Amino acid sequence: MDVKKLFDLTGKVAVVTGASGVLGGCICKALAQSGVKVGVMDIRPEPTQALVTEIKRAGGEALAMGGNVLDKAAVEKERDAVLKQWGRVDFLLNYAGGNNPKATATAEQPFFDIPKEALERCLSLNVTGSVVPSQVFGKVMASQNEGVILNVSSMNAFRPLTRIIAYSAAKAAVSNFTQWLAVHMAQNYSPKIRVNAIAPGFFLTDQNRYLLTDKSTGARTPRGEAIIAHTPMGRYGEPEDLTGTVLWLLSPAAAFVTGVVVPIDGGFSAFSGV
Ligand SMILES: NC(=O)c1ccc[n+]([C@@H]2O[C@H](COP(=O)([O-])OP(=O)(O)OC[C@H]3O[C@@H](n4cnc5c(N)ncnc54)[C@H](O)[C@@H]3O)[C@@H](O)[C@H]2O)c1
Repeated sequence: MDVKKLFDLTGKVAVVTGASGVLGGCICKALAQSGVKVGVMDIRPEPTQALVTEIKRAGGEALAMGGNVLDKAAVEKERDAVLKQWGRVDFLLNYAGGNNPKATATAEQPFFDIPKEALERCLSLNVTGSVVPSQVFGKVMASQNEGVILNVSSMNAFRPLTRIIAYSAAKAAVSNFTQWLAVHMAQNYSPKIRVNAIAPGFFLTDQNRYLLTDKSTGARTPRGEAIIAHTPMGRYGEPEDLTGTVLWLLSPAAAFVTGVVVPIDGGFSAFSGV
């Protein structure tokens, strides 16, 4: 075994969904720095193009991809574009997802009144939005007999967090889907197709800022304080905190790792609170 090649990703091709988001953008840049050709796939064209330009300026290879992860025909169109450009897809990173504030139980909107449409939107984006690209790019990996799919779960998949009912259920489903697909791909297509997930702890981003910081003062809300108190490392995560684990899961160093959900949480999930 050549130990120096264990983490080598040079020349591989990745597609990242939700790539223009806070966490997706960070991993796209890290992949490009690692010599990976990156399909930057997001529903918002402007930040997508800006990220591609930034990656190229830094000497990396990137392709702007559009497409709604819930629209299979649109994802297939993007698949055709990436295959035309680079001929294969080694990695799929399903980062598109997030909470829907309207699917949150609050004093003004108790659980009993959360609109069904808000629940469905959140479940659909996180769950179906991971399944559809996995169908489209998983098929490419099946034809190649190799590939890696990486899903993004969350702390609330292990134990639900208060208030965010649909997001908790959705990420539990993402973890379950990760295990299901890992078994399915290995048994039916190739043991060299691996499927894993990361479960980030708490990262202050646009989708949770309204819960964790006071809008006017920027100070931590009681919920934000509770999170920090339950995180043994005593801080929120930075997007870069996810990079090493993701690169490991994609790399040959994780060749015998499939169907796992790795917490990256500063110890949150290990801490009983006492
Ligand atoms: N921020 C956190 O603390 C945290 C914690 C755990 C898990 N996560 C998960 O990490 C992932 C990325 O989170 P983030 O904080 O970077 O979110 P973000 O909102 O910054 O990024 C999400 C991106 O997905 C894109 N997107 C939304 N709907 C889409 C669709 N239908 N098709 C294609 N693209 C679409 C958006 O345009 C956006 O760029 C999400 O799955 C999120 O649930 C985040």
